[in-house]
Amino acid sequence: MSENKIIDGKEISEKIRKRIKSFGSELIEKSGKVPGLAVVLVGENPASRVYVRNKTEKTKEVGFQSIEHKLNEDVSEEKLLGLVEKLNKDDNVQGILVQLPLPKHINSDKVLDSILPVKDVDGFHAVNVGKLWSGLNSLVPCTPLGCSILLKMINDDLSGQHAVIIGRSNIVGKPMAALLLGMNATVSICHSRTKDLPAIVRQADIVVPAVGIPEMVKGDWIREGAVVIDVGINRIERDGKNILVGDANYNECYDKASRITPVPGGVGPMTIACLLLNTLLTSYTQFDLEMPDLSSILKDL
Ligand code: GUN
Repeated sequence: MSENKIIDGKEISEKIRKRIKSFGSELIEKSGKVPGLAVVLVGENPASRVYVRNKTEKTKEVGFQSIEHKLNEDVSEEKLLGLVEKLNKDDNVQGILVQLPLPKHINSDKVLDSILPVKDVDGFHAVNVGKLWSGLNSLVPCTPLGCSILLKMINDDLSGQHAVIIGRSNIVGKPMAALLLGMNATVSICHSRTKDLPAIVRQADIVVPAVGIPEMVKGDWIREGAVVIDVGINRIERDGKNILVGDANYNECYDKASRITPVPGGVGPMTIACLLLNTLLTSYTQFDLEMPDLSSILKDL
């Protein structure tokens, strides 16, 4: 088994974060201001708590300010909207992220659309979604952005390639489709109502499972030489231990794929690096500084 089959998202994201830190220091020096990222967590969802902790830690590591707001599960929608409004107006906050999922009594779309589009580091605001689908410059959701960076490292132009996304969420599946179209791939979005999913996945040059079902994608679904970008992060118990697995059966898919992301250490760390990248972008805009050529952040990774 050759090592270079594995797409090492951990190592690549570390490189990106180092470069963000260096651009960030320059930005702080020029503006006299420190980019601030506000993260809002509602309730006690254990996975969300882990994600938020990681985001906070990595935000501080690149020299940005992390502002955490933890609200009770039963917080009213009005109160949450009030907090977002306050963060919108706060000059020390350049990025706002409201961790999903939110409790059922809160209208997530309403909350996400209350975030100022210029501070929308998740890229979930309708304005940013519309821009992304129109091929305009926009803030792009972090997980699909991370996946597209990994794919670009393998192949910048996906002309003639068939990409199959499994999952139609607003967080991953749909924006991933927009990005892949922008890279000239032919895109299929599959979901729980898709007929004969294995047959469609077998046609794929690129497979992006993003459904949250542990090891759903089997080795015999994967065409020899396909690229597998596994977005799933599922905590399961195996042999009495808690472990993380993706939406693809890693060992089986490894044997068939030409390149594959592991779980953990694949897409997950790329999501956080992209969140910091988006925060750097929104900070340049809000500090009224000319954007330097940030393409070097993603060059020769
Ligand atoms: N929950 C799972 N992924 C994400 C994400 O990328 N952003 C937010 N805000 N919530 C999430």
